[in-house]
Amino acid sequence: MGDARLLRIADKVHDFDTPQLHALLADMLDTMQALDGAGLAAPQIGVNLRVVIFGVQRNPRYPDAEEVPLTVLINPVITPLTEAMEEDWEGCLSVPGLRGLVPRFPHIRYQGFDEYGALIDRTVTGFHARVVQHECDHLDGILYPMRIRDMTQFGYTDVLFPGREMQDE
Ligand code: NI
Repeated sequence: MGDARLLRIADKVHDFDTPQLHALLADMLDTMQALDGAGLAAPQIGVNLRVVIFGVQRNPRYPDAEEVPLTVLINPVITPLTEAMEEDWEGCLSVPGLRGLVPRFPHIRYQGFDEYGALIDRTVTGFHARVVQHECDHLDGILYPMRIRDMTQFGYTDVLFPGREMQDE
């Protein structure tokens, strides 16, 4: 946070299944796994393209975490399926050590493409919906602290949740 590259509107991907795109995705997957994140957007590694990845496997370290299939999502479009938003805690690999209470739509449809240009069209709820909204915000230069409504609900993870391991997005 503070790096101007996180505040840009990212460009659409026009060419799929290219060596450059596969190399970007390999780099993003390595980064996400090395940092044990639940998701990552290309702007977080300085690449200004509308590419996100996310996924959460069942892990005894995070017993409350919902499983989310490992997904590559390019040029995403989100359609909220509820009017009301729900608040829950989020962290971000670009905002290390902090967590905040962030409003998101609990039920969305998202569409986009995988790295081969195949259509992805899913309707999801809960944490899956939250992580998609968080990652897609990165493509529009939005970091989760910008969405916090009550700044008393923003703080250090180890103070808010002592002794608990949590994943960042
Ligand atoms: Ni993030």
